[in-house]
Amino acid sequence: MQKIEAIIQPRKLEAVRQALDKIGIKGLSVSDIDGYGNQKGHTEMYRGQEYSVAFTKKVKLEIYTTDNKTDEIVKTIMETAKSGKIGDGKIFVIPLSQAYRIRTGESGDSAI
Ligand SMILES: Nc1ncnc2c1ncn2[C@@H]1O[C@H](COP(=O)(O)OP(=O)(O)OP(=O)(O)O)[C@@H](O)[C@H]1O
Ligand SMILES: [Mg+2]
Repeated sequence: MQKIEAIIQPRKLEAVRQALDKIGIKGLSVSDIDGYGNQKGHTEMYRGQEYSVAFTKKVKLEIYTTDNKTDEIVKTIMETAKSGKIGDGKIFVIPLSQAYRIRTGESGDSAI
């Protein structure tokens, strides 16, 4: 099992959601995040204090999935979230050691 974390442009969320729905993804989590990448942040002075104005709004998708679906999910997000401009986002794949469905007590692949 794997955890896929995809940080994407908020305006791409609906298209990515639809594309993932089409390939049969049943569950995902979404959060609004602030962050920065390669272009870094910069700071501004305001009344003698330094403030970071560096953060840009992104959306983070978290998808827990079985090994055999991982590549298809990554490919789908890569294609759908891409505009070709800086700030399109990133995808991280992290090994997942276990999953449980609380209601039934199932674990492993069948809990996903
Ligand atoms: N190494 C990282 N660790 C944690 N979060 C990151 C990392 N790199 C990027 N992010 C998150 O991803 C968001 C989008 O990153 P972004 O697409 O700008 O990456 P990038 O490496 O700067 O690529 P690009 O040059 O295409 O902009 C950032 O706002 C931040 O939230
Ligand atoms: Mg960037």
